[in-house]
Amino acid sequence: MSTLRIVPTNAALGARIEGLDRTQIARPEIAAMLHKALGDHLLLEIPGEPMTPQQTRDFAAAFGAPRIQLLRYKHSGEVPEVSVMVSTLMADGTTDKTALRAEDWHTDDSYFQTPAKATLLHSIDIPSRGGDTWFCNMRAAYEALPEATKRRIDGLRAIHAYDTSRARNRPSARTAQEIAETPDVEHPLVRTHPDNGRKALYLNFNRLDRIVGMERAESDALLDELAAHCRKPEFHYAHKWAVGDAVIWDNRATMHRVDVDYPMGEKRVMQRVLIEGDRPF
Ligand SMILES: [Fe+2]
Repeated sequence: MSTLRIVPTNAALGARIEGLDRTQIARPEIAAMLHKALGDHLLLEIPGEPMTPQQTRDFAAAFGAPRIQLLRYKHSGEVPEVSVMVSTLMADGTTDKTALRAEDWHTDDSYFQTPAKATLLHSIDIPSRGGDTWFCNMRAAYEALPEATKRRIDGLRAIHAYDTSRARNRPSARTAQEIAETPDVEHPLVRTHPDNGRKALYLNFNRLDRIVGMERAESDALLDELAAHCRKPEFHYAHKWAVGDAVIWDNRATMHRVDVDYPMGEKRVMQRVLIEGDRPF
């Protein structure tokens, strides 16, 4: 335990966890240290060996309760809380659409009333190059806004929909049950972190449809302005994958996206666990 080190990236967000024996993660003092580091740095990169779905679930559980994810076809058979995300680019065009949709900035699960507070991704197979996952620090993005903009948006609420015409790509098809489970929901545009009281923009370019109480044109203009602000590189950091990495991020104060720039046919397979969250306020 004395060898565990939290090394900040010195970029917009993120820290690398070195010297962690993954089998020890459930020890209260280690789990508490990692939990605190996640709140501070919003993204943790934890190198190691590939894990089984069972091991991945147990590892993720140090950060909260793993929850079953919406799309049934992605569930790993043996451990339903672990989804297997295959984003291999197929020459025959059968690439999973959700992999392409993840190319634009989003926060996981915002189409739910109670979105997952954190997501863990664990790499099983990665391409020989490309496929970085990018992160955006939405706390820093909020804090960098002009005061007049902060005053304008504080207290505004927005509609998140499973699909919106504002998104660049369409989502993959859902079953009737999955559609019934994903009605439109309303969230604050500025979210307060329950652990530390700090504010962050809460945006999702794939789901955010409109601002409550505004005409479409005015709503689009404001959302476009905020999106342009968040696209500034000063808020961004890229994780470059190695096999066995476990990466966990705080969905309450970050967005993420993937570079779909890796070679056709090379396997890209991740395990994913979502951690139960809280109602945004
Ligand atoms: Fe995602």
